[in-house]
Amino acid sequence: MEKITVLDTTLRDGEQSPGASMSIEGKYEIAVQLARMGVDVIEAGFPVSSPHQFQACELISQKVKGVTIAALARCVEKDIDDAYQSTRNAENQRLHTFIATSPIHMKYKLQMEPDDVIDMAVKAVKYARNLAPEVEFSPEDGTRSELAFLCRILEKVIDAGATILNIPDTVGYAIPDEFGALIKAIREGVPNIDKAVISVHCHNDLGVALANSLAAIQAGARQVEVTINGIGERAGNAALEELVMALSVRNDFLPYTTGIDSTQIYNTSRLLSNIIAFPIPRNKPIIGDNAFAHEAGIHQDGVLKHRSTYEIMTPEAVGRDSNKLVLGRHSGMHGFSKRLTELGLTLDKDDLKKAYQRFLQIADRKKEVFDEDLFVIVSDELGHESQTYILDYFNIQSGNLSVPTATVRIKKAEKLFEEAATGDGPVDAIFNAIDRAVGIKTTLLEYTVQAVTPGRGALGEVAVTLKIDEKKIIGRGSSTDILEASAKAYVSALNRYKAVANV
Ligand code: KIV
Ligand code: ZN
Repeated sequence: MEKITVLDTTLRDGEQSPGASMSIEGKYEIAVQLARMGVDVIEAGFPVSSPHQFQACELISQKVKGVTIAALARCVEKDIDDAYQSTRNAENQRLHTFIATSPIHMKYKLQMEPDDVIDMAVKAVKYARNLAPEVEFSPEDGTRSELAFLCRILEKVIDAGATILNIPDTVGYAIPDEFGALIKAIREGVPNIDKAVISVHCHNDLGVALANSLAAIQAGARQVEVTINGIGERAGNAALEELVMALSVRNDFLPYTTGIDSTQIYNTSRLLSNIIAFPIPRNKPIIGDNAFAHEAGIHQDGVLKHRSTYEIMTPEAVGRDSNKLVLGRHSGMHGFSKRLTELGLTLDKDDLKKAYQRFLQIADRKKEVFDEDLFVIVSDELGHESQTYILDYFNIQSGNLSVPTATVRIKKAEKLFEEAATGDGPVDAIFNAIDRAVGIKTTLLEYTVQAVTPGRGALGEVAVTLKIDEKKIIGRGSSTDILEASAKAYVSALNRYKAVANV
């Protein structure tokens, strides 16, 4: 069976999802888990775009071993220098450079002649290849480029030293048969193609990113670029979990393998969802809450008689044996930390102690603590953003005949800021009081609350989306008290804003 190289771009294209910005620590945690899961290449960021991106690539390259670390660069020397510098300590280093090749991008965006685009690409690849052993080249908007031009530029960049040619469906425009045919045409139309590996990078604007990736594999692509939970620009990228399970479940039809340990899929997905505070839609393949739930009587009957009647894969194959009772109030630190490690949650000593204290509080209020709760406890309590603000105290007066009034005390750099406010409801009152205490102007775009696990004593998880200075920022908080969860979610969004905006 031929192996497909999996390049995960959660930390680069994935982070380009509106609202999905991650702190450096958050990115590092994801990278550790990606390596543990068996990803071949981690695209760690676009270093020239900000110091934050540069530092994240640097930290991941220094500390995450056993995997290739790639960094993105436009076809300009400064970008390539930063990509090189930030990944120089990687065990295996790859520089990924790109330039747009479609008529529409060359004319309106680059305002360049096609021959000049080729020159720039060739120069950039040569420059990158002098610095690093592996260079990947992407003709951006590849699927809307003219085939003859595409073949010409690909031939030239291979001569210049590129060893991976990535064909991006940048705007999610291609249809599977058409995309497969394009890969085949490139194999036939680029004379030196045997010196390079063909990669694909599909966006999901028409919901066919995975289908396009599979069609490309059948046509000869041997690297596929994906993201966890399918996050990415606009509608996102092909999802890693879908690719891995499609190749595994339909191995009869698609005789290819990956190096991914599929039992790590669910943990990784939850970890990411908690770090970026994006809830996973219930009906999402593989990782959504309903992906293995059987509702119709006929289906339930069938599954009880024989699972394979309605299940094409087992939940265990993707690591979904969660929701089983794991820990309770009598669990010790040892059992707690062992379970966190099994879930891919890597904490240093101090953080582990804090998380354990929080676990004990929750276990006191709620008899059964599930894996789902542990993900929330860890990400909520420790935060993956620097904690500029800490919710020190809150109190709410509310009732059907009174005006909801909240008092909050927020700690910032050892100083306490206490404020009170009224609101349309208790949640509005808390948010108004926090706004006053921190002095930041926000607009609440979205507010959701959901129970993490079944039962009345469940942890409630609140997600808020705020608009601050035209930026969309998401925050999450959890507690068995949903008003406390709301206050925490709001403060976590403010902390995330501070961390990401560097203000
Ligand atoms: O979608 C795209 O074209 C990209 C490239 C930079 C590979 O993300
Ligand atoms: Zn992309």
